[in-house]
Amino acid sequence: MKWTIRILLFSLFLYQTCFAVVKENFKECSQSSFCRRLRGIKPDNSNYVLNLKSLQVSDNSVESELWNSAENVKFKLVLTALAGNMFRLYADEISPLHKRYRVENVLNGEPQVERLEVLKRTEDEVIIQFGDNKAVLKAKPFKVEFYKDGTLVAVVNGRGLFTIEHFRTKNVQVDGEENQLQQEDPGAWEENFKSHHDSKPRGPEGISLDITFPGAVRSYGLPQHADRLSLRTTGPGGLDPYRFYNLDVFEYLVDSTMALYGSIPVVYAHSSSNTVGAFWLNPSETWVDINNSKDQNVVSSLVNLVSGQASESRVDVHFMSESGVVDLFILMGPTPKDCAKQYTQLTGVAPLPQYYTLAYHQCRWNYITEDDVTTVVKNFDEHDMPVDTMWLDIEYTDGKKYFTWDPIKFAHPDQMLMNLTSTGRHLVVIIDPHVKREGGYFLHEDSLSNDYYVKTKDGNVYEGWCWPGSSSYPDFFNPTVFDYYKALYSKLKFDNVNNDIMIWNDMNEPSVFNGPEITMPKDCLHHGGWEHRHLHNMYGMVYTAITYEGLLQRNPNRRPFILSRSHFAGTQRYAAIWTGDNNADWNHLAASYPMCLSEALAGVSFCGADIGGFFNNPDVELLQRWYQAAVWLPFFRAHAHIDTRRREPYLFAEDVRHRIRTALRLRYAHLPTWYTLFYEHERFGEPVVRPLFYMYPKDPEVVDIDNQVLVGDSILAHMISESGATTANVYLPGGSSEYWYDMRDWRKYAGNGYTSFSVNLDSIPVFYRGGSIICRKDRPRRASSLMHKDPFTLIIALDSNNSAKGTLYIDDNESFEYRKQKYLYIQFQFKNNELTSSLIDKTDYETLEWIERVIVLGAPSGVQKAVLTSKSLGSVDLETHYSDDALIIRKPGVSVRESFAVKLI
Ligand SMILES: *[C@@H]1O[C@H](CO)[C@@H](O)[C@H](O)[C@H]1NC(C)=O
Ligand SMILES: *[C@@H]1O[C@H](CO)[C@@H](O)[C@H](O)[C@H]1NC(C)=O
Ligand SMILES: *[C@@H]1O[C@H](CO)[C@@H](O)[C@H](O)[C@H]1NC(C)=O
Ligand SMILES: *[C@@H]1O[C@H](CO)[C@@H](O)[C@H](O)[C@H]1NC(C)=O
Repeated sequence: MKWTIRILLFSLFLYQTCFAVVKENFKECSQSSFCRRLRGIKPDNSNYVLNLKSLQVSDNSVESELWNSAENVKFKLVLTALAGNMFRLYADEISPLHKRYRVENVLNGEPQVERLEVLKRTEDEVIIQFGDNKAVLKAKPFKVEFYKDGTLVAVVNGRGLFTIEHFRTKNVQVDGEENQLQQEDPGAWEENFKSHHDSKPRGPEGISLDITFPGAVRSYGLPQHADRLSLRTTGPGGLDPYRFYNLDVFEYLVDSTMALYGSIPVVYAHSSSNTVGAFWLNPSETWVDINNSKDQNVVSSLVNLVSGQASESRVDVHFMSESGVVDLFILMGPTPKDCAKQYTQLTGVAPLPQYYTLAYHQCRWNYITEDDVTTVVKNFDEHDMPVDTMWLDIEYTDGKKYFTWDPIKFAHPDQMLMNLTSTGRHLVVIIDPHVKREGGYFLHEDSLSNDYYVKTKDGNVYEGWCWPGSSSYPDFFNPTVFDYYKALYSKLKFDNVNNDIMIWNDMNEPSVFNGPEITMPKDCLHHGGWEHRHLHNMYGMVYTAITYEGLLQRNPNRRPFILSRSHFAGTQRYAAIWTGDNNADWNHLAASYPMCLSEALAGVSFCGADIGGFFNNPDVELLQRWYQAAVWLPFFRAHAHIDTRRREPYLFAEDVRHRIRTALRLRYAHLPTWYTLFYEHERFGEPVVRPLFYMYPKDPEVVDIDNQVLVGDSILAHMISESGATTANVYLPGGSSEYWYDMRDWRKYAGNGYTSFSVNLDSIPVFYRGGSIICRKDRPRRASSLMHKDPFTLIIALDSNNSAKGTLYIDDNESFEYRKQKYLYIQFQFKNNELTSSLIDKTDYETLEWIERVIVLGAPSGVQKAVLTSKSLGSVDLETHYSDDALIIRKPGVSVRESFAVKLI
């Protein structure tokens, strides 16, 4: 016993003090039985055959028997046409020994189906069609080809790697006898990793499927990995496959395909003519091999040239999961934008967040007392730096017992919160899923007596080690536990602290310090008898769904805010995420853009990285660059490990303070843009931040660019992620008729590709796209809540036709009244030397906001004045002047509620 405790303490010590990821703590494919088995399947030798005599056709789908001829096992295969240009391919065993796990509540409701037509039906193949989408099912070997507008864009089982390991009984090995077992992987029925044993009571149940994307030159998606945006070729002897197994990987490596905290198994294959997506709906451990033909060595391309064949590019993807059913969605595109919208159509969008959550968040492990919290805010105020939200990490609790407060350090949480809210600030506190096993703690006692905890394989309550020491983990898959937890967020169970507190869910992979790979053993048992292995990657998402519903129950008319570390497909409906425990180095700063861009393509736009890096101490240059880059990611929070030096931005020399203050103010000035984009995300399903290829899919030069981000379609930011930079090589896309205006001096550049800019420490290159109208709030304030009545500055960035347009969304910033038409959604347009505004929807919302200034970038010369016309103001002459390559129109003074026109004369 003592010995065990020593080991536990030692692992805790390792966890907290090891400043390098212990790569060996986590599996490689070769150390995982099912990955070895599925990766080892030989291509071009498929035993799967469709029995098309059995074909059943309905309005929306075709269903056929699928036969594994080598093992004589029958499966059911269903191909369904979905609205919005998608297919769903589903396969399961017909009479399995055990039921296979099918996920619930990941999709945003049942997908809408579409009527299909059967064009051809023989025993060898069946052709179905809807719209300009066509699928060809081939019987022998089984294969499905997908065509968009007559072009072959995806092939399932083209390489013959499709496999469903049917449930079987274990053969008893008889000495000396040649039997099947000897060919089986040694870990198929039980497996060890380090000191951990996985009992695998059901034996092998893996699934595998390959998809080829003919013509594709790049692939994207598959977050969460600390890798570049464009996926790399993996393969035996080369990189390990991209791994999905939600894990607490401390100080993770960059440029790595290792698993991290979240898993979203959606991949996009892209070429300048087509983008196609594939969403692999499976919450068990999953590995994905990518093979991009462009990464093949020179020799093979020479061979292609010599043989005179056009070497068509392609991307091969191979999904391998430990368990579950085959449930694959093919998103037929044909553009990146279509694919992103198709994906959110399946898994949902993020509901519009409260306005303040888009402003600056100040976090640290830990603000140690109430006074500390108050003092930090006071310091921000004294140094004229805006901050909206203070965060409390685990130390605010009474001994790591969530839903309690430390009786000494946080004795007056109500008062502390009132102090914050009285200056327009907010509070977020951490609530983790592990429960301290301590007598007298209501959460533990309730959970124990009501049988709420996850069980071991033997049916005892599972005990692991986490922040509180010995802990157990509630089974959130049990509906009773779900409801119990939901109710905890209502006022009374949270020590009378009022409605404003929002929640940070961390360690929800779940993290178990002494568990295999720092998580829960796979043979632990959940509600309904499912093993943890079947649903592991969803555990964290279900937990955030509870928090979301709990906060809604607490106050049905306040939009919940939740930050989660663990995530899965669909998490965007409940929570924002961040890139976890990164490090204070340049590589981790560089990783923040590609990591969040991948998430955004996978539905999770509300993403950010800990500013400054969680572990270790950034030097001031890195810290400044980090703030400057983070302004242009959706979630904007500084955070730091308990062992780091204090680094609140007011602590530095005045020149550093000045630069960080400038970055913070730039963020606050653009809050209306962020808010409008989040509204448009909810309404139209597009990501809030976008990689260049998303907007310029036909430009082959942009496919690998991931140090630049587009905020909506109007702002382009280029991060600086190296020390001592004096120039930046910025890619300005769009061709010579696309204009980009440098945000620093309003100078105009054409979209002619790589352009060198000189930089100093004061800023990074950021541009407005010609053709956009950006609504800013330029008056500096201490918090976003103090800006609501401030007037707007409209920046009109003209395109090569002297036109521009933009939108602005306004509501009460916090409630759900916008869903009852209480909002303004305004369109601004500039053409023929005239700015006009109009409401996109016939709604109304009271607001005092007005337009203080209009700045026209790329304006024609010789403008003498501007004339405003509106119903309430009539016709008014406005002063104009030129400054820094821009035309400034002073004081239109018109309310944003009113339609108006401003004509340049
Ligand atoms: C990628 O595919 C090509 C063509 O099929 C093959 O020759 C190559 O070995 C594959 N690469 C890897 C790493 O699997
Ligand atoms: C709230 O603010 C007042 C005035 O600054 C201060 O005296 C008090 O200690 C604060 N209370 C808490 C709990 O932070
Ligand atoms: C300018 O107008 C022409 C003709 O309508 C159009 O083809 C072109 O795309 C426009 N340019 C921009 C930058 O919008
Ligand atoms: C929310 O912001 C709008 C303008 O952005 C303002 O008119 C309104 O008063 C604000 N509402 C609240 C409750 O602060």
